[in-house]
Amino acid sequence: MKKSAICPGSFDPITKGHMDIIKRSSKMFDKLYVAVLTNSAKKSSFTIEERMEMIRNCTKDIPNIEVCTFDGLLAEYAKKIGVIAIVKGLRAVTDFEYEFQMALTNKKINRELETIFLTTNSKYMYLSSSIVKEIARNGGDISDFVPAEVLADIEKRIKNRKD
Ligand code: PNS
Repeated sequence: MKKSAICPGSFDPITKGHMDIIKRSSKMFDKLYVAVLTNSAKKSSFTIEERMEMIRNCTKDIPNIEVCTFDGLLAEYAKKIGVIAIVKGLRAVTDFEYEFQMALTNKKINRELETIFLTTNSKYMYLSSSIVKEIARNGGDISDFVPAEVLADIEKRIKNRKD
């Protein structure tokens, strides 16, 4: 039986830390959905369409990835498309409480669904989309932090939004 998983996030914008988790999890499953979602607790800088386009750009060479979005609950969408697991990256202890709460809630909604945590590559321990935006807004170099395919795009969009 083919096994698929979903890697959800706000990806606002995608970073090298996200790409590391996406690449590693795409090797663990026959199919990986990368779901771009609105996190109601965060104010986003890029539209869902912009974020999906950037991720498609960075993952175009990985054949078993599909970039998607949806309204509603992750655990219910997972059931609808038949994925067996949610994959999330864990950077540090600070991520744990929030991720643990979401994993337990998702399990409560959908008993069949597992959450798998991949420990981040130590190179990206400190990295977040918010840090990337903060550096770019202040004219800093973000080339170490975001995939090369979307570097110019992110810089341009952040600059335009500042003006
Ligand atoms: O990258 P983020 O912002 O940490 O991702 C959080 C996200 C988008 C995965 C989370 O907010 C989510 O799953 N939203 C979908 C709605 C949902 O199912 N909420 C209940 C989860 S406990």
